[in-house]
Amino acid sequence: MDCELPLHAHRSSFIVQDMKPKLKEHVSSKEKKQPYVNRMFETIAPRYDFITRFLSYGMDRGWKRKLVDTFDFKGGEHALDLACGTGDITFALAKRLTSGQAVGLDITQGMLDIAERKRSEMNIGNVSFHRADILSIPFADATFDCVTAGYALRNVPDLEAALAEIMRVLKPGGRFCSLDFGHPPNKLYRWLYLNYLIVVGSTLGLALHGDPDTYRYIPESLKLYPGQRGVRDMMQRAGFIDADFREFGGGIMSLNYGTKPR
Ligand SMILES: C[S@@+](CC[C@H](N)C(=O)[O-])C[C@H]1O[C@@H](n2cnc3c(N)ncnc32)[C@H](O)[C@@H]1O
Repeated sequence: MDCELPLHAHRSSFIVQDMKPKLKEHVSSKEKKQPYVNRMFETIAPRYDFITRFLSYGMDRGWKRKLVDTFDFKGGEHALDLACGTGDITFALAKRLTSGQAVGLDITQGMLDIAERKRSEMNIGNVSFHRADILSIPFADATFDCVTAGYALRNVPDLEAALAEIMRVLKPGGRFCSLDFGHPPNKLYRWLYLNYLIVVGSTLGLALHGDPDTYRYIPESLKLYPGQRGVRDMMQRAGFIDADFREFGGGIMSLNYGTKPR
């Protein structure tokens, strides 16, 4: 008995330790991050909606509503939802656009299949989905009045290139808004929050997919993400005017927004 528990504890910590370099190595590499992200989202696609509600204690819907509410739609706009996943934000945009169009773009086919199924169930006409990379958006310059990104910027291997692409496809005067996990300014709160994500993410990943790294990706990618203040500064450097942010829950979640100059 005496030796069994320590051995078991040693084994599981060995598994976690052993996976650590793999996750970190991929998330911090410009070349390896995207293939890693693609594989991960293909794996979690069927459970994505459930996991998102579960991990956010149901608050995800409210945060997405706040994102869509940052736009003052007249009804005829063209909106692009980057990294649309299963389509929550794309559908919310489409509902606000009476004569306009909402376009969802994502790199993962499994996520798009679910979005497409929802679209036909809801019978919404002014929505279309496309498989593509944020770093190479398959639309002409100045096509969209509004661009959104829900939990997207943290996933791209080159954030500056992503902001340049967003700027390119926006019409002059068009607005961009991104929702993502944030960096709480209070250091202790930030440490607690990251460690909470590590513990919950590892447990959930192990329970649902047999791999603790599946949801530990969130805190690992967040550590390397510049956060709401860093993204605001990058947006200013990329040429957005009025670039700023709003944060919720003491900074655990944030909206970054800005406008393309006319
Ligand atoms: C956390 S999910 C967010 C989904 C959705 N926006 C939402 O808020 O529920 C992140 C999405 O980003 C997509 N993604 C990651 N890298 C991408 C890229 N380079 N181009 C397009 N989509 C990407 C993934 O396939 C995944 O669907």
